[in-house]
Amino acid sequence: MASKQDISRVIESTDIVALVSEYVNLEKNGKNYKGLCPFHHEDTPSFIVNQEKKIAHCFGCGGGGNPISFLMQIENIDFNTALQKLAKRNGITLSEEVQTKESNTLTKYYKIMQIAKSFYIKNLENTDYGLKALQYLHKRGLDDETIKVFGIGLAPNQMDSLYQVLKESNFLELDCYDVGLIDKNDKGYYDFFIKRIMFPIHDENSNVIGFSARYFEQDKNQPKYINSKEGILFRKGEVLFNLNLAKGEILKKKRVILHEGQMDVIASYRSGLKESICTMGTAISLRQALLLKKYTTNVVICYDGDKAGINASLKAIKIFKQAGFNIQLVLLPDGMDPDEYVLKYGTDAYYNYFENNKCDALKYTFKQAILNKDLSDALVVDNIKNQIFELLNQENSSTKEEEYLAELSKVLGNSVEAIKNDYQKYCNLYPTKNYVDNYEWLEKKEEDLSSKSTVEFNNYEIRLFMYAKSSREKAMYIDHFLNDRFEAISKKNMDIWMCLINVYYERYQEFNEEKFVQLLDEDSKLYYRSIIEYLHNDSTPYTDEDLNACLKKLDEKKYDRKNEKIDLSIKKSSNAEEIFDLILKKFKNKKIKEDLKKMRRK
Ligand code: UTP
Ligand code: MN
Repeated sequence: MASKQDISRVIESTDIVALVSEYVNLEKNGKNYKGLCPFHHEDTPSFIVNQEKKIAHCFGCGGGGNPISFLMQIENIDFNTALQKLAKRNGITLSEEVQTKESNTLTKYYKIMQIAKSFYIKNLENTDYGLKALQYLHKRGLDDETIKVFGIGLAPNQMDSLYQVLKESNFLELDCYDVGLIDKNDKGYYDFFIKRIMFPIHDENSNVIGFSARYFEQDKNQPKYINSKEGILFRKGEVLFNLNLAKGEILKKKRVILHEGQMDVIASYRSGLKESICTMGTAISLRQALLLKKYTTNVVICYDGDKAGINASLKAIKIFKQAGFNIQLVLLPDGMDPDEYVLKYGTDAYYNYFENNKCDALKYTFKQAILNKDLSDALVVDNIKNQIFELLNQENSSTKEEEYLAELSKVLGNSVEAIKNDYQKYCNLYPTKNYVDNYEWLEKKEEDLSSKSTVEFNNYEIRLFMYAKSSREKAMYIDHFLNDRFEAISKKNMDIWMCLINVYYERYQEFNEEKFVQLLDEDSKLYYRSIIEYLHNDSTPYTDEDLNACLKKLDEKKYDRKNEKIDLSIKKSSNAEEIFDLILKKFKNKKIKEDLKKMRRK
C-alpha cells in the first residue's frame, strides 16, 4: 500500500488542468475551468476543474474527484496504477512497497523495449543507412515531425548491433529473448529485426510492447512487414496500434476510426483524424472491440477499398454489432487505402472525402451484398437475404425493417409480403432480442451443445463469476487481480469477463442477470448459461476464503499455461541448445508453481 505522504505528494504536484485537458476541452471560467463531462453525455458543460483545490468534478453526474480518482475513472485503471502513472508524470519516486513483484518484471521488459526503441530512432537519425530510410519515409509523405510523433526508427544492416547495446546495459539474454528482440542459433544470439523500418507498438499506457518492421529496400523473398512474435508483452489479438496517442482524441470526438494498417493510421493522423487505430494485420476481435468500448461506442471503419478490405469490413461490422457499437463505414474509391489516397490527393482532400462519405453499416452491407451478384442463383439470393436479415434483426428498428425489406423486395423482384415472411422465419430461428427468447433457443440447442462438449471450464475459474456478480466492488477486486494473469484464463471465460467488467459494470452499479446476458454475443450466451447450470449443482459455499483460494489457483495455472507454450516451442525446435534452455525455463516455472501451491496450503 502507498503511504499517505506518497498520495498527497502526488496529488499536490499534479497540474490538474493540464491532466484533464488531455481528455476534455476546457475553457477558463472565473477561477475555474469548465468543459463537457467525459463521464456522461451532455450538451452544456457542467464539468468543473479547480487548479487550487486539485479537483475535477461533474455537477451533472458526480463523476471526477482528485487527480488520482479522475485518472482511475477516465482510464479505467486501479488506484495503484493511477498513482504510479501520476508519480511518473510528475517525476516523483514512490516508496518501494507500491510496486509489486509482478509489475517489476514487466517494468524490466518495458525498459528493454524502450532502449530498443531509442536505439532504432538513433539509427534512423544519425547514420548513412538511416539517410536512405529517411528518404524512403519522406517519399511516402511522412515529415520529420510525424516520424518523431510515432517514434519511427531503423534496424541497421548488422547481425547483432542491438544485442550488443542490450548486453552493454546488463540485461539478461533470456529477458531480451522473451520480449522478442533477439533470437538464437548455434552461433549465438543475433538481432530479430535487421534492415527494416521500425514502428514501435505501445499499449494503452504508452509502454512499448512490440514492433512492426517494414522492409524499404525491395526484397522479394521477405514478407513486407514482420511483427514482434507473440509473447508476454505482445499479443496480436489484443494490440490496437496508436490507441495510446488516439485515446484522448477518441473521447473528445466521441468516435474511433479503424484502419487496416499502421501507414493508414499515420496518413489519417496527418490529415487531422487523430482518433485512428488499427490491428496488426489480423481481423478485429470481440475482445478488442470491447476494449474500445471503454472510450466510445461509435466506430468508423475505413479499410482498404479493395475486395479484401470490403470482406474484412463486413466481418468487422458483425463484431462491432455484437459489441453494441454504432457503426459507419467509409469506402475509398479505386481500391485505394487511406495512405495511397493521401499520397495521391493530399491530406485535405482525404479529410473531406472521409467526412463526406460516411455511410451506415446497414446501407453498406446492403450495397455490398447485392453488388455484381447473380440474382438467378437461389443460393446467392439466400445468402443476400441472410446477410441483411442478420443486421436488421440486431438493429431492432421497425422503420429500418420497413425500409430495407421493401428495398430488398425491389432488388430481388419478390413481393414485400414474401420477404417479410422470410424475415419473420429468420427471426424465429435466430432470436437476439431478449433474454426469454434466448432461453428457449438455448433449450432447443442444448442437445448438440453437450454432444460437442464445447463446455470446458475449471471450477475455480468460473466460481469467480459468482463472486463478481455479488457486488461491483468484488468484481473490481477480482479484475485487479486478474489483470496480469490473463494467460491463466480460458478464452471463453475471458470474453465473458471483459463484457462484465468493461461493459456491464461501466453502465450499471448492481448486477442484473437479464441485462447482463443481453450484452453477450450468441456463443458467450450459450456458454454462460451452461456455466450457471453447472454451478447450480455445485454445493461448495461461497466465502471470502474460497474466493482467495480460487484466485491463488489461477496463479498456479498461469505457470501451467506458460509451460504449455514452452512445450510447443520445444516441439518446433531442432536446436539442442535452445531446447535445453527451454527445458530450464520449464523447470523454473514448475518450481514457482510448486512454491505457490505450498503457500496456498499453509
Ligand atoms: P497491407 O498489406 O494493407 O499494408 O497490410 P499497408 O498498410 O498498405 O502497408 P504499406 O502502405 O504498403 O506500407 C496491412 C497491415 O497488415 C500487417 C501490417 O500490420 C500492415 O500494417 N501486415 C501486412 C503484416 O503483418 N505482414 C505483412 O507481410 C503485410
Ligand atoms: Mn498502404
